[in-house]
Amino acid sequence: MQPRTEQDKAKWASGTAAIEAYVRDGMKLGLGSGTTSHWFVRALGEAVAQGLDVVGVPTSTGTRDLALEVGVPLTTLAAVERLDLTIDGADEIDHDGAMIKGGGACLLWERIVADASDRMVAVVDDSKLVDTLGAFPLPIEVVPFSWESTRRSIARLLGRLGYADPDLRLRTAGGETVVTDSGNYLIDAHLGSIEDPTALDGQLNWIPGVVENGLFTGIADEMIIGFPSGEHEIR
Ligand code: 5RP
Repeated sequence: MQPRTEQDKAKWASGTAAIEAYVRDGMKLGLGSGTTSHWFVRALGEAVAQGLDVVGVPTSTGTRDLALEVGVPLTTLAAVERLDLTIDGADEIDHDGAMIKGGGACLLWERIVADASDRMVAVVDDSKLVDTLGAFPLPIEVVPFSWESTRRSIARLLGRLGYADPDLRLRTAGGETVVTDSGNYLIDAHLGSIEDPTALDGQLNWIPGVVENGLFTGIADEMIIGFPSGEHEIR
């Protein structure tokens, strides 16, 4: 499989560069979700075919299926105590490495797997790098039982902070509700600009019914930025 668009080339450059830069024999790896992470997983499959000895814990059923297809051996968080490294994408990343994740609806497993890892490296194309997080809608995972009332609680918090009401994520306008790999729903918050991501992360996760949100601060240790030219930069 080859990257087709300019952005896809940048994603390929970032995801594939992670192998040589970070992956070593014997490592236990967290396998991220999304198109950039999937370039990493495909390249990892090729490295495994050439003798690299690693195991991975996938952050979504989609990544699990791809890893099985390309021959990356899998394990679980039940079977391993810690992971050495997680490689995962982001929807936005600022210059301090704070991220918005969950555009692909996988934020809960992504956060758990990153938390179980000694190191996390974000793989992003150059369009993801921002000065201030918030242009990308912030995904918030909520339990279906109370999603209407939880959405109202989120709306009250966001209203106090000067933000608009958040929306339930649907597959298409007026279509089916998006359901995550854990059977939950997603509320997307349109914030524009987030002044204090760490504070907002804590405030959101205190709301009953919120399972997790897509603000990942203090999690990425480094980032690989890919460019359409096929080059990459590590920060
Ligand atoms: C999925 C994620 C992805 O990492 C994020 O959406 C980036 O995806 P892509 O690499 O396709 O741009 O958080 O929940």
